[in-house]
Amino acid sequence: MIHRTNHYFIIIALLLVAACNSVPDTIQNPREHISINQDWKFFKYESFTDADDLYYDVRPEVINVNDAKAADTPATEAEKLKASEKALKPYILPTANAFIKDSSRHYIRPEGNPGIDFPFVQSAFNDNAWEEVTIPHDWAIKGPFQEGDNAEVTGGMGRLPSNGVAWYRKKIDITKADKNKAIFLDVDGIMSYAMVWLNGNLVGGWPYGYNSWRLDLTPHLNFEGDNQLAIRVDNPNHSARWYPGAGIYRNIWLTKTHKVHIAQWGTTVSTHNVSENSATVDFSVCVDNDSEISAEIDVVTEIFSLEDSLSVVALLPKKTLTIASGKSKKISGRATVKNPKLWGPPPTQTPNLYKAITTISKNGKVIDSYDTSFGIRSLEFDPNQGILVNGELVKIQGVNEHHDLGALGSAFNVRAAERKLEILKEMGCNAIRMAHNPPAPELLDLCDTMGFLVIDEVFDSWERKKTPHDFHLIFPDWYEADTRAMVRRDKNHPSIIMWSYGNEVGEQYTDEEGADIGRKLVEIVKDEDPTRLTTSAMNWAKSDMPFPTVMDVISFNYQGEGIRQDPVFDKVTNRIKTKPQYEPFHEKFPNKVILSSETASAASSRGIYLFPVTDKISAPMLNGNGKDDSISQVSAYELYAVDFGSSADKVFASLDKHPYSAGEFVWTGFDYLGEPTPYYNCRSSYNGIIDLAGFPKDRYYLYQARWRPDLPMVHIFPHWNWPDRVGKVTPVHVFTSGDEVELFLNGTSLGKKKKGEFEYRLRWDDVIYQPGELKAVSYKNGKVWAEEIVKTTGVPARLEVEVDRNTINSNDLDLAYITVKVLDKDGNFVANAENEIEFTIDGPGALIATDNGNPCDMTEFPSPKRNAFSGLALGIVKSKDGQPGTIKVTATADGLELATVEIESN
Ligand code: GAL
Repeated sequence: MIHRTNHYFIIIALLLVAACNSVPDTIQNPREHISINQDWKFFKYESFTDADDLYYDVRPEVINVNDAKAADTPATEAEKLKASEKALKPYILPTANAFIKDSSRHYIRPEGNPGIDFPFVQSAFNDNAWEEVTIPHDWAIKGPFQEGDNAEVTGGMGRLPSNGVAWYRKKIDITKADKNKAIFLDVDGIMSYAMVWLNGNLVGGWPYGYNSWRLDLTPHLNFEGDNQLAIRVDNPNHSARWYPGAGIYRNIWLTKTHKVHIAQWGTTVSTHNVSENSATVDFSVCVDNDSEISAEIDVVTEIFSLEDSLSVVALLPKKTLTIASGKSKKISGRATVKNPKLWGPPPTQTPNLYKAITTISKNGKVIDSYDTSFGIRSLEFDPNQGILVNGELVKIQGVNEHHDLGALGSAFNVRAAERKLEILKEMGCNAIRMAHNPPAPELLDLCDTMGFLVIDEVFDSWERKKTPHDFHLIFPDWYEADTRAMVRRDKNHPSIIMWSYGNEVGEQYTDEEGADIGRKLVEIVKDEDPTRLTTSAMNWAKSDMPFPTVMDVISFNYQGEGIRQDPVFDKVTNRIKTKPQYEPFHEKFPNKVILSSETASAASSRGIYLFPVTDKISAPMLNGNGKDDSISQVSAYELYAVDFGSSADKVFASLDKHPYSAGEFVWTGFDYLGEPTPYYNCRSSYNGIIDLAGFPKDRYYLYQARWRPDLPMVHIFPHWNWPDRVGKVTPVHVFTSGDEVELFLNGTSLGKKKKGEFEYRLRWDDVIYQPGELKAVSYKNGKVWAEEIVKTTGVPARLEVEVDRNTINSNDLDLAYITVKVLDKDGNFVANAENEIEFTIDGPGALIATDNGNPCDMTEFPSPKRNAFSGLALGIVKSKDGQPGTIKVTATADGLELATVEIESN
C-alpha cells in the first residue's frame, strides 16, 4: 500500500520539535489517503445477456449491432415498466445528493438492500478462479480487435471489447484502530455505471464514467475482521463516439479521516489583484462534522511556496467555528502574498506553484490536515486580442485530447500522460482541451506543473443523443451532479482557464429550449466557481440564435474558417455548410472572446504519400485524391481534412485574418482509439498531428514552425524512396520557421521560395522524381536558418533502438518507450520499411504493449511482434515493483541486424 504522507506536515512537525524540544503528542495527521489499486479480482460475463440482473436501469438496446448509427429498439412500454421496477437506480441516485444544491430535490434511498443474496457481493464467495488485476485497469485494451462487418463493437468505438458487464472484488484492510474514523472510498473514475457493495450492502455508485466520486463506507464497515468490496461495472455498447475504455480505469483510494474533517474537495482558492509585488489569495474551507456530537474547532491555513517549502509566505489566521452533528460549515479568509512567483505558461512564463496547508484542531489537538496546490495568476479576456495571462497576451496554440493513452488504452498512467504532454510541448503546444469529459486528476496536476492552459469539459451530449447509449440516458437525473462534480474537483488547478459545459450538443438546434439548458448548466458552473468563464463548443449555432448568448466565451468547432465551402460540396444540401463565422460573431458579441475549440480535423497516415497531390491548400479526402480505399490510408501531404474540416494551412490563414481570435485547439494532438474517419473498418483515428504510437506526422513540423518561430527548423517531405516514380511528378513540400527556402535535388537548385501572406508551407509541386538527395536550406531575414537532407536509401539492413529515458523507477508504474527504426546498411532511415519486429526483454521489466501508429493494424496491442509502419515501431516497457536492475530490450527482425538498449530501473 502506498501512503501519501503530507511532507509539509512532517516539516512543520520537525520545526515544532526543534522549537519545543519534545514531540507534542497532538502532531499526527489522522488523514490517510491510501491507494487500494493492488490485488483485485476481476470477472466479466461472456455476454450482456448472461449478466446478472442487478442493473442500474433499463436502456434501449440496438437492433443492428453492426451499425452504430442504427435506430435503437426500445423495449415495449410494458417490458420497460416491468424491468424498471427491478432497476437499482433509486439506490444509486442518493450518491448524487452532495452535488444537488436544492435539498428538497435530494433523493431518498428506498428501504431494502438489493443484491444482498447475490454471491459476488458476499465475503464468503470464492473468487479464486477470477483474474487477478491491478488498477488502473482497462479490460478491453488487450483485445482482440473485432474485425469485419459483423463486429459487435464497430470502428467508432475502436473495435475493442469495451462493452459488457463485469465485477471487481477486493478485501480491504480495516482494523480496530480505525474504529472512530470516517472512511471513504474515493474513485477517480470507473467506466461505467459503477455500483458498489461493501460486506453485502449496496452503498451507492456513479453512472458517468469520467467523473470522480466518493462513497462513505463508514456505516457498513466491519472493524473486527474482513471487509469485502464488490463493484459491478456495466459498459454499454453504442455509448460513445470514441473508445471509452472499460472498468476501474483510474486510481481508487481509501481515505480515512477524523469524523470532523475537511469535506471532499473542500478547499477553494482563487487569486486576485495579481501583480509582481503582491496578490490577494481568497481561501475557503468546508468542514463536515460526521460525528454524533457538535464540534468546536479551529481552522488555520498556511501558504508555502514550493520553491522554499520551509517558509510560510502567507497565513489565514485561526478561525473558530462550531458545527452541529451531521452538518457542514464553510469559512472563508483572505491573505496577501508579497512578491508572488506567478503561474504562467512557458516559454515566456513559469508555472510556479504554491501549497496551502489547512489544519483543523479541536481542543488544541490536530484532527485534520489537508494540502491544496494552487497557482497565482491573473486571466483577462480581451475580445479584441484574446487571453492575457498575467498581463501577457498568450495566443492559444492548443490541441484536443481524448483520454486514451494509445496502446495502453484508458488505464491511466502518469508517465504515459506526461510523455504525451512532453511531445506536445516540444511542438510548441501551450493548451489542451479535455475532449469531451473531465480527465484523470493527475493529468491536470501535470498541466499545472508543465504550464499548459486547459479547458475542462463535462459533456458531449445533453438531452439529445449522439449515440443510443450515451449520456442523454442519464442527463435528467445526473446533469447537476456531474457538472458540479467536475468543477468542485478541478477548481483549484491554475491550468484551467475556463469550463466547457458541452460539445456540439444537439440542443444547438432547439432555440430557446436548448439555450435554457445551457443557461441552467452555466448557473451551476458559476455557483461552484464564480471566478472562471464558461463556454460550449458550437459547430452549428449562429450568432443570431439564442444558444451563444448564454456563454461567456464563443467557441467554434470548424465554423471559424467555414464548413464545406469547397466547390465539391456545391450540390450537398443535407449537411452543415457554413461561411466563415468570425466576423458575424465578433460583430454580434463585441464583448466576448472568440476562440476555435476545434479546428482542422485534418487527416493523414504517417509516412503514406499518395499521388496526385491537390494543388489547393485544403481539400476533402476523395478516393484517389487524398486517400486510398484499397489500403485504408490517407495521404501525409497534410492537405486533406474531413468534409467539415480544413487543413492546418487554411486554419492558420483564417486565424491570421481574424487577429482578435484567442487561438485554436486542433482536433487532435494525438491520434486516438475509435472514430477512424474515413475508414471505419480500422481501429484508431487519422486526425492526430501525432500518431497513436506517439510518432510525429509531417504536420507536427508545420505547427512547430508556427508555434515556435524562434526554433531554427526545416522539414522536407515526402521521403525519397520512389523506385516506381522515376521521371514522374513528385511534389516536395517544406515546413520551416524561417521565411524562405532553397530546395536542391542532387545538388541542383530547384529554386528559392519565400512564404507569401497567409502561406505556411513552401511547395515545389512539379519536381520530377530522381533517386538521390533532397536538401532544403531555410533562411530567416536573409540569413541561413536551418538545413535538412532526405536521401534515397538502400534496402532495410539493420535496426536501431532508442529509449525515451534511460533510467526509470522500479515501481510497477514507470514506463520506458522504445522506438525501433529500420535502417539501411549505411544507417539511413528507411521510411517505407514494413519489416516485422520482435521485442524481447531481459531483466526486471515487462513489455506491456507495442504499436506502430498504423490506424488499421489489427495486431493486438500486447503482441511482442509488430510490423514497422513507415519505418517505425514502438515497444512500451514497464518496471517491476521493488525489483531494481538493468532491463535489456532487444529488437529483432528477419534478415536484419538486431539492436538492443539498456534501461536502469532504480
Ligand atoms: C467534431 C467532434 C469531435 C470529433 C471530430 C472528428 O465534430 O466534436 O468529437 O468527432 O468532429 O472530426
